[in-house]
Amino acid sequence: GQARKLQAMLESAVDAIITIDGSATITTVNPAAARLFGYEQHEFLGRNVHFLMPEPYHSEHDGYIRNYRTTGRRKIIGIGREVTGRRRDGTLFPMHLAVSEFEMDGRVHFTGIIHDLSAHKATEMALRQAQ
Ligand code: HEM
Repeated sequence: GQARKLQAMLESAVDAIITIDGSATITTVNPAAARLFGYEQHEFLGRNVHFLMPEPYHSEHDGYIRNYRTTGRRKIIGIGREVTGRRRDGTLFPMHLAVSEFEMDGRVHFTGIIHDLSAHKATEMALRQAQ
């Protein structure tokens, strides 16, 4: 029933991890990210991370990164935010995004940890309906 379905969703939720360079180009990706977004791991590499998000993020994301790099003002780094991701088949899903910054070979890189909130949201709705 519903409870088993929710259990299965919760158990299959594993965080996705993606790294990008300073110009938003994806440099590494884990299997959970491939599963979550519906692409093969190699298909992510060399692409701008904005291909994983809907509008208006898609068009504005390069600007978000540029703003951070010129002002140093953090909007997500070290804070986290709930945003919307876009899968290969075009479906949208809620996700929590945590971003951190690191330096490698004198260049800035960013790590994004994505937690799929679909199961959480489904649980929330089921609980609300059960009341
Ligand atoms: C900033 C959305 C994935 C790296 C942001 C902001 C939003 C956003 C809304 C803040 C804009 C602002 O208020 O100025 C998204 C969405 C994603 C996504 C919808 C869905 C896939 C990622 C990933 C990474 C990343 C995977 C890193 C690997 C950054 C960086 C910033 C940023 C470096 C600027 C730093 C900051 O604002 O603290 N993104 N993002 N994003 N994002 Fe993303």
